[in-house]
Amino acid sequence: MNETERKVNELAKHSYGTWRRQELWKTPILIKDAEGVYMYDDKDKPYLDFSSQLMCSNLGHKNKAIIEAIIKQAEKMPYIAPGFATEASIAAVDALRSVVPRGLMKFFFSTSGTEANEAALKLVRQYKAPNYKIISRYHSYHGATAAGITFTGDPRRTIAERARCTIQGVRFAPDAYCYRCPFGLKYPDCNIQCARYLDYMIKEEGNVAGIIVEPVVGTNGRIVPPPEYFSIIRQICDENRVMLITDEVMSGWFRTGKAFAIENWNITPDILTTAKGCTAAYTPVGITATSEKIAEFFEQETMDHGHTYAFHPLALSAIPAAVAEYKKLMDTGLPRRVSKYLQKKLYELADQHECIGDVRGIGHFWALEIVKNRETKQPFDVRADKFTHKALMTNRIAGEAMKNGLYFAAWYDTLVIAPPLIITEDQVDEGLNTLGKSLSVADKEAVSTGVPASKTSEYSKRT
Ligand SMILES: Cc1ncc(COP(=O)(O)O)c(C=O)c1O
Repeated sequence: MNETERKVNELAKHSYGTWRRQELWKTPILIKDAEGVYMYDDKDKPYLDFSSQLMCSNLGHKNKAIIEAIIKQAEKMPYIAPGFATEASIAAVDALRSVVPRGLMKFFFSTSGTEANEAALKLVRQYKAPNYKIISRYHSYHGATAAGITFTGDPRRTIAERARCTIQGVRFAPDAYCYRCPFGLKYPDCNIQCARYLDYMIKEEGNVAGIIVEPVVGTNGRIVPPPEYFSIIRQICDENRVMLITDEVMSGWFRTGKAFAIENWNITPDILTTAKGCTAAYTPVGITATSEKIAEFFEQETMDHGHTYAFHPLALSAIPAAVAEYKKLMDTGLPRRVSKYLQKKLYELADQHECIGDVRGIGHFWALEIVKNRETKQPFDVRADKFTHKALMTNRIAGEAMKNGLYFAAWYDTLVIAPPLIITEDQVDEGLNTLGKSLSVADKEAVSTGVPASKTSEYSKRT
């Protein structure tokens, strides 16, 4: 063991690795540098970043304008208590108002997506009291705290429930998951049952205060709802006087082509939460953006929430620079052009690999759902396998890709293809070439059905 390996081992021994058994936190790869769409380990081996780290480094690594803004603020005034106004908060609010959907006009700043959702929950419950129930969906992730994990559908909630680390009053609605429709229906004959069922749920449940949804589901599948979905949901919320919270922690910041994913469907939520891309992940910020109606309510009510690091000047200093960089990048037309290229290439990849059941997504936000049998949609692994000792197929593919210099995130059934928005066509080719080779791990164990990908992939029929 050399000196570097010894230091990494010491780190792992004395720190907790996230979301894993600690026996799997022994020898994390040491990353020494990152620039553009690449990161480099201590042996200078490059890895193409095909997931923008955790779907947050949307502008790539080492963006000069953002780094300069942070340095300037660090030199000027890194911290002051949230009860004071700062030039950093004035500039951050100003920049945000130029980019969030119209109608959202008042912001709370925290330091993570989880906290952005926690604040949303408290605001909604105060605003809607005595109604308190929150409806979420099974394919969702909304945060790590007791509240955030309770309205999370993915396997992490099950562990938190067993440990009694959850809150009361959360219910789950069906997903807009056409590839495996919970009602066994087919779009468009389905009449968008997954959306309409919410009306029934709200009325039968009673005391519902709000619904929280990821407009395009992130970690749990890059699920893009049918075109009619959100206008139906907005109408159901209005008719039942229920607040609509859109969680854009991952889907925001031009990842889907629009500044915020919900803008693809021309509706405005009552609350929008975001984080990650708001600073391109250069500093930790969570944002809870609310409508004027909610803002007015709190004129005469205590906003019962806050943190020492709320409105943190150093953290907020990255927001105006990031907003300016996003606008500049979108004006070049590169992300729009490359997203179409990526989509075309992913469909072609699916034609070459039997293990790809579904290809779905939008913009720079794609899922490859990996299956053992394309015809029956039999998966290699299921949600319950996620935190067992089983070596999941998606992790095996991601491990193979890492060996060959390609990084992407994997979940129990999907690969996350969500590169930084600065990626070029050549870099997409480079990534997909390595990905293609890595998929042979799954192809070897997949059933040879001869069924073309276009037959099973639901979204290719719509786009
Ligand atoms: C949709 C969504 N909401 C909330 C969160 C939690 O954000 P954070 O990890 O910054 O607490 C995440 C994190 O991945 C997310 O994807």
